[in-house]
Formats: sequence, C-alpha cells, structure tokens
Amino acid sequence: MLRCGVDQQERVGRRPYPGTVVPSPVRPETRALDTALDVLAGRPLVALTGAGLSTDSGIPDYRGPASPKRTPMTYTEFVSGPLAQRRYWARSHVGWARMARALPNPGHHALAALEASGVLHGVITQNVDGLHRAAGSRNPLELHGTLAEVECLDCGFRAERQRAAAQLAAGAPVPLCAACGSNLKPAVVLFGELLPPAFDEAHRELASCDLLICCGTTLRVYPVAAIPELVHANGGPVGVVNLGPTGADHIATVRLDARTGDALPALVGLLGPAPAHNATSL
Ligand SMILES: NC(=O)c1ccc[n+]([C@@H]2O[C@H](COP(=O)([O-])OP(=O)(O)OC[C@H]3O[C@@H](n4cnc5c(N)ncnc54)[C@H](O)[C@@H]3O)[C@@H](O)[C@H]2O)c1
Ligand SMILES: [Zn+2]
Repeated sequence: MLRCGVDQQERVGRRPYPGTVVPSPVRPETRALDTALDVLAGRPLVALTGAGLSTDSGIPDYRGPASPKRTPMTYTEFVSGPLAQRRYWARSHVGWARMARALPNPGHHALAALEASGVLHGVITQNVDGLHRAAGSRNPLELHGTLAEVECLDCGFRAERQRAAAQLAAGAPVPLCAACGSNLKPAVVLFGELLPPAFDEAHRELASCDLLICCGTTLRVYPVAAIPELVHANGGPVGVVNLGPTGADHIATVRLDARTGDALPALVGLLGPAPAHNATSL
C-alpha cells in the first residue's frame, strides 16, 4: 500500500486538519482560500492536474460541460492496421496544430511559481499538451505521455514530433520511423494501453507528499482516480480546484469550485514568495 511520506507518528504532533469541505459552487473567495491556506501550512504539496487546467489555454477538456463529443481511438484499434492509423493521424494532425500553438495560462504559471518557491514538491499530470513544461515546471510526470513526441511500434525509437508532422504536412498518410521505416504511434497512452513508467514514478513522488491538490480533473477514471484515494487513505488531506463535481469530492478537505486560472494565482498571491530553503514554514 502506498505510504504518503510522513509516518503516522509524525502526523500526531501536527495541527489537525480543519476538515472543512467548502460547499460547491463557490468562487475562490477569502473564506475558502483561508481554509486552503490553513490546510497548506507546513505541508509538502503535490499537484495532480487534468484537462481542465488547459481550457484557459484554448484546449478543450474531455468531460467538461463545454467539451466537444469525441470518440478517442483505442490502442487495439490503432494497432489493428493501416486504415485505423491513417484515420488517427489525419485527425491528430489537425488537433496537434492547435495544441502546438497553445501557451501556458495563469494556472500553469501559478503551479510553476509554487514549485520554484519550494511550496510545491511536484506536478503529476494527465495532460499530454506539454504546457506544464512550457510554464517552467521542472519535471512534470506526464502519466499519459506527450503529444510532442512519437514512438516506433516496431523498434521503439522515440523522437520529437516535428519530422512526423512534416511528413503528414507533405501528404504522407502515416508518418514513418526515421530509424527503421516502420509505423509510428504518438507517445501518448491510448485508451486500453498499458500505463507507462511515469505511473510508478508518480507513486514514488506521492511517497514524499503530504498533501495533494487536484486541479481541473474529473477524476472519473482509474487508475488516476485512485491517487487521491491513496493519499486520503494515508491521512494526507486532498484539495480540489475544479469547475463542477469530481470523483474526489467526498474525500476533499477543501474544495474550490473555481477556474484554476483564477484560484491558483490567488493562492500564489496569498502564499507570497517563499524562499526554497524555507519551504515548510509558509
Ligand atoms: N490538455 C490536454 O492534454 C487534454 C485535453 C483533453 C483530454 N485530455 C486527456 O483526456 C483525459 C481527461 O480527463 P481529465 O480528468 O484530465 O479531464 P476531464 O475532461 O475529465 O475533466 C476536466 C474537468 O475540468 C473542469 N474544468 C474545465 N475548465 C476548467 C477551468 N478553467 N478551471 C477549473 N476546472 C475546469 C471541467 O468542468 C471538468 O470537470 C485525460 O486522461 C487527458 O489525458 C488531455
Ligand atoms: Zn523504428
């Protein structure tokens, strides 16, 4: 069973968690932020982010009220043959053009600032858009991979997406591997595909985490939905910043029904610049 960094003995001497669930819907108003700060004080924090964090960057989410209807291709379908792969790459090429133009928004920048000041221990993301890195997060764990890279189905060669994108732009039905000429797959986890090593890394990251804040994710799908449950089971408080309900609301100590682009910068403003060496005394 995953442990959450600080053992139970150490927890005993700490302030009890306020145990306040902020009723939904609320704006990131003072009362809710006060509660959030109370929970945050002195605790190593890890952020778990999802598609909602990037909607302010113009990338639609998957299950939000305004998200377009989509039928994502499964891994089994993708590897079934050239027809499916042509269909995938035709759609993906258009989607990639939009994603490649997207810029990090204040939510991404706020998490990078919290990390730079030592408050945030790390970012675990389900997003495949690369915007945490673009905002300056040092080593986000990309649970579902990244659309910025491709990998060969045969030899495993991995490369930046540019060459593949250029092949598609020049009219190739599918991009081919620079090393062996075989078919490529985007370096993302398709539905039904095994999770990459980043998932094990995420569990190691959580071993040194004392508090999890879930941002812009419905937390409806396992195994990602199990992450807040594990932190909660180990006694670590779970915070949620999300427009609309999530699968972690029943275990959330603090819940902000707010835009991540508003709530996360507000949190940075309230926490103030904290030097890295003083990260545990906010
Ligand atoms: N940007 C991306 O990389 C991207 C985009 C779409 C889908 N995906 C993939 O699809 C899956 C989607 O699952 P998920 O749980 O991450 O997202 P989701 O689509 O299931 O849920 C997003 C949640 O964020 C909320 N939301 C939308 N905009 C928000 C904002 N500005 N502030 C706060 N909340 C906001 C929505 O109401 C919704 O509850 C993931 O596995 C992800 O890999 C990724
Ligand atoms: Zn190859």
